[in-house]
Amino acid sequence: MKLILLGAPGAGKGTQSDFIKSALKVPVISTGNLLREAIALGTDLGKQAKAYMDGGNLVPDQLIIDLMKEKLQSSDCANGAILDGFPRTVAQAEALQSFSDVDIALSFEVPDEAIVHRMAGRRTCLKCHSVYHVENNPPKVEGVCDKCGEALTIRRDDNPDVVLQRLNVYHEQTEPVKHYYEQLGKLRSVEGVGEVEEIRDRIFAVLGLSV
Ligand code: AP5
Repeated sequence: MKLILLGAPGAGKGTQSDFIKSALKVPVISTGNLLREAIALGTDLGKQAKAYMDGGNLVPDQLIIDLMKEKLQSSDCANGAILDGFPRTVAQAEALQSFSDVDIALSFEVPDEAIVHRMAGRRTCLKCHSVYHVENNPPKVEGVCDKCGEALTIRRDDNPDVVLQRLNVYHEQTEPVKHYYEQLGKLRSVEGVGEVEEIRDRIFAVLGLSV
């Protein structure tokens, strides 16, 4: 299955992608994680992307489209993939349609007020990409990743001013992508507020998966 996860920054796409990956047994391709890795490695892509990401803006479409085209053609994705963070503009959705088919675009519906609270408490593992929240989903040992033992960090773009800009960008540029998939009959929505496991169960019901 080729599944797209759509939703505002902090809507829970990364958190839920772990459960969906285990059930579907296909890889997660997170454009945000790929770009952060490129920045950490100092590659050309990372150098081009950094200023856009730090400011809460989208990186140019063509950079992302080229990156995803290459990833989706790899043998890892022969049985499908979960796309977390792509497409994020209608131009990206149109490009994706030209080189790969999509089964479902799953939209996480979370109000902006909840997003601001989530981002303020998010802690991220840069090594294995696990995501925590200091109140809602704390690690067993403060500041340490449960899965790999790495020190947890606060993402540069989780600064409150940047979060507001990311929300603006989401409403202006990414929400129209929902309409694009609705017209194709591929859009499904899930209420993204509640306990993490409750939301997992809602997603599994929509996708016809068993826990
Ligand atoms: P990216 O890394 O994709 O960020 P994002 O979409 O803004 O999403 P996040 O990772 O912030 O949130 P999430 O939905 O995964 O939520 P999470 O599970 O972590 O992109 C970063 C940047 O890269 C972009 O701004 C852009 O510059 C660039 N970029 C990436 N893709 C691009 C593209 N296609 N085109 C152009 N540019 C691109 O959860 C958030 C927090 O909430 C966590 O603390 C978590 O523990 C907590 N939480 C999760 N679920 C719940 C719950 N049910 N209740 C309470 N708390 C919860």
